[in-house]
Amino acid sequence: MTDDLEPGAARCPGPSTADILRADSAPPPEVLLRESPVYLGSDDLPYTEYTSPDFARLEHDHVWSQTWQWACREEHIPEPGDYEVYDVGDRSALVMRGEDGVIRAFYNACLHRGTQLKPAGSSGFGNQVTCPFHGWTWSTNGTLTDVPCEWDFPHVDKATANLPEIRVELWGGFVFVNWSDDAPDLEDYLGELPEHFANWNLAEKFVELHVRKRLPANWKAAQEAFLEAYHVKETHPQSIPTAGDANAQYDVFGDHVSRFVHTAATPSPHVPEDERLDDDGIIELLMARKNPDGAVPAREHGETARDVYARWTRDTLGERYGIDVSDLSTSEAIDSIEYFLFPNAFFFPGLQFPMVYRFRPDGHDVDHSIFDLVILRPVPDSGRRPEPATPYDLDVDDSYTTVPGIQQSLGAVYDQDTSNLAAQTRGFRASAKQGQTLGNYQEIRTRHLHDTINRYITAVQEGQAT
Ligand code: FES
Ligand SMILES: [Fe+2]
Repeated sequence: MTDDLEPGAARCPGPSTADILRADSAPPPEVLLRESPVYLGSDDLPYTEYTSPDFARLEHDHVWSQTWQWACREEHIPEPGDYEVYDVGDRSALVMRGEDGVIRAFYNACLHRGTQLKPAGSSGFGNQVTCPFHGWTWSTNGTLTDVPCEWDFPHVDKATANLPEIRVELWGGFVFVNWSDDAPDLEDYLGELPEHFANWNLAEKFVELHVRKRLPANWKAAQEAFLEAYHVKETHPQSIPTAGDANAQYDVFGDHVSRFVHTAATPSPHVPEDERLDDDGIIELLMARKNPDGAVPAREHGETARDVYARWTRDTLGERYGIDVSDLSTSEAIDSIEYFLFPNAFFFPGLQFPMVYRFRPDGHDVDHSIFDLVILRPVPDSGRRPEPATPYDLDVDDSYTTVPGIQQSLGAVYDQDTSNLAAQTRGFRASAKQGQTLGNYQEIRTRHLHDTINRYITAVQEGQAT
């Protein structure tokens, strides 16, 4: 397995993602043609970074404590008094819109004897925040308004006993929290991300579907199942006739952002040339999946399968959601374009692939995680924003296909994506070899994730040493 190229420079033979995008009749925006590959070494990645409670503790103390994480959407808390609770490990943020309209996040713990003010993972509405134990009460802005038997607490100054706050910043309709006062502002933290999303307004989308599933894997292993398309051939074999998998593009933009662009309606390089479907065959197969009872759109004026699929997607989803997307490029309409934001968030700007993911440890259990799968759809041009979907909970063995309203073929793909996790978790411990061997290019985002985690841990430890 050698070649004459520098490590990390080899690419799948045949057309690249950029070649495919440049041939589209509706050309891509410049950001999709930007390439930012990196090579970060080829050493094995130790399994202890997944299995060790000590490593998880370091992540808890130095990563989850320092990084910006989306807690909810603004649309989840549109009115004063609306709240959502975001938990990660021991940390819990009570995110609330105050009577002044400002969104704040409070440490979710009472100033009297510590009781959590709202249950983990809960959401709701209240005119005030009352502790369920003895009834200390704060306004929605976080000011202490009532202490039962106040005569017994002359040592408590109501004027200063506000609920302590966690930093909050907004981007793309998401409410981000950060427990550290020393972390950079969200804008600095996001790096190039806002520039890339300048024309993909995530704020003007609504939550159509929200699945919350417990997964049998460390939070990193769980999200790494979504950081590469290398697994498509073996895990999603039904996609091979119509997926540019081995020639997907991988980019790293600074410390916190990485991306893949994985093309649709194009054959996988794994399919031998003489077995590849032609453009009409690709369209027929995609339509059999997406629109089995509908007419197959005709190919016009030498259009490629990508162009036809993009036209059908713009027409169908534009009509369904009441939006004009006639100027959307082929790639934005149909490809799986996936941005990752360290440590745990994924944003897909595409029309056919409009997902958002979030992965968190399940408490301090290193072998389980919580996966939020959100489908964001465009708010109609009329401006009437539908209510965000209520989260639907799935346990480890529950199929995504049981979620009301989920597209069955999509649910089946997520079942495939998570079907390997329990075996991988067991394999980490059963292995003679003590680390995983990553592809230099296709799995670079996984290595980048670990490098960044280790940078956070090392930076803090060095900082403490000096
Ligand atoms: S613990 Fe909250 S009021 Fe007593
Ligand atoms: Fe997958």
